[in-house]
Amino acid sequence: MLNVVILAAGMGKRMQSSQPKVIQKIAGQSMLGRVINTARTLSPDQLLVVVGHGEQVIRDMFKDWPDVAFVSQWPQLGTGHAVLQAVQSISEPHDNNATMVLYGDVPLVQADTLQALLAASDNGLALLTETLEDPTGYGRIVRDDAGQVITIVEQKDADQSERLIKEVNTGMLVAPTDKLRGWLERLGCDNAQGEYYLTDIIKMAFADGVSINTIAPKASYETMGVNSRSQQAELERLYQRALAQKQMDGGVAIADPQRFDQRGELVCGQDVFIDVGCVFEGMVVLGDGVSIGAHCVLRDVTVGAGTQILPYSHLHQADIGNQAQIGPYARIRPGTRLDDGVHIGNFVEVKNSSIQANSKANHLAYIGDADIGQRVNIGAGTITCNYDGAQKHRTVIEDDVFIGSDTQLVAPVKVGKGATLGAGTTLTTDAPANKLTVSRTPQKTIENWQRPVKPPRKKS
Ligand code: UD1
Ligand code: CA
Repeated sequence: MLNVVILAAGMGKRMQSSQPKVIQKIAGQSMLGRVINTARTLSPDQLLVVVGHGEQVIRDMFKDWPDVAFVSQWPQLGTGHAVLQAVQSISEPHDNNATMVLYGDVPLVQADTLQALLAASDNGLALLTETLEDPTGYGRIVRDDAGQVITIVEQKDADQSERLIKEVNTGMLVAPTDKLRGWLERLGCDNAQGEYYLTDIIKMAFADGVSINTIAPKASYETMGVNSRSQQAELERLYQRALAQKQMDGGVAIADPQRFDQRGELVCGQDVFIDVGCVFEGMVVLGDGVSIGAHCVLRDVTVGAGTQILPYSHLHQADIGNQAQIGPYARIRPGTRLDDGVHIGNFVEVKNSSIQANSKANHLAYIGDADIGQRVNIGAGTITCNYDGAQKHRTVIEDDVFIGSDTQLVAPVKVGKGATLGAGTTLTTDAPANKLTVSRTPQKTIENWQRPVKPPRKKS
């Protein structure tokens, strides 16, 4: 049996936020949500989050995560006190029962690292430690001559020689639950910070002859905590750089890996190109040979092979076919399906519409709640008037239609196959197939009309 305890009771004062620290995001997901999801990969029997400051906001945010239980810690008397609150609520701690301690503000620890930590514990204690060039601020791992860990000394309690130790405590550990509970109950707070230190269990474990093993994380970002906005930004960049690296290793051409942002899952085919400043959110799938221009935002989008998304386009919940061309400056909104070879040009907005193969709307149009056939040409300035102030209505445009510029289609309305609408038409009833329909006041010329002239200026 495995229990995971995630500490998240601290205030996070240095974030200067009205929100609790652990709900702030890294790569589009709350830090605590990330830690919980990573912990879940171990299939723990109990997953406990220790909360204090801002606890109601945190509890509300995770109320639909049924496998997560919350334990309140008031007041916050230290990491040892925090873990004790959780361990006291663990049902039936028995011999082979391990507890893993994680931190809500150390969001990027990876599943395989936790797996290795668990394996290293082997019914005893396992610590995730790291050797740092500058260990300032961290608890130091003190070993005896045989290399055996005997204790952890906090920075503030360390003497000169202990401060020279470069191996530090990341805080993450695994311990046998029943023993852990006993040690925590015996903790004192006679130290520089007057806190109940979780780290003080190490010397108790050593005294009890419990094995103490250590492992190190693979990536440095795995153990980095967030205490300030600048640390949040630093960790975000480090992680994004790693995500970009992963994409490049998979064959994606990224114009500048420093200017790449993936806030969800991004699945790319072969020979995908991503220009600078793009943001990928939710689930994005890019087919072979797709090119994403500079400064595009794609959220929950599928893009077919060979399609080009030109700069400054915004796509959300859309499904785009092969060899299509979108943008620059296009906005594709939820419920849109664009088939192969569709062209959507600058300042065209498409919402909840389907557009079949090889149709084009190249400039300045609003296409909402429309079903458009193949090879349709939508002129500049075309608007589907889909909303009457109370309800939305659909516009149907069949194959091979030509819609002249500056046309309004007042839905519900249908344009028959092969029809042409003259420029400037306001279509209020269905247009028959293969005919020209135009609504336009007849053009006239006023023969003797003269431009008004300005009256001569009076001299004063
Ligand atoms: C702790 C470790 C230190 C380690 C460092 C790594 C202890 C005594 N020290 O120090 O060895 O090098 O982490 O970053 O454990 N928290 C609670 N309730 C509390 C106190 C803390 O939930 O009463 C939470 C905080 O919200 C935070 C985490 O525990 O997420 C760590 O607490 P913090 O006070 O930052 O510990 P450090 O002094 O950094
Ligand atoms: Ca800390």
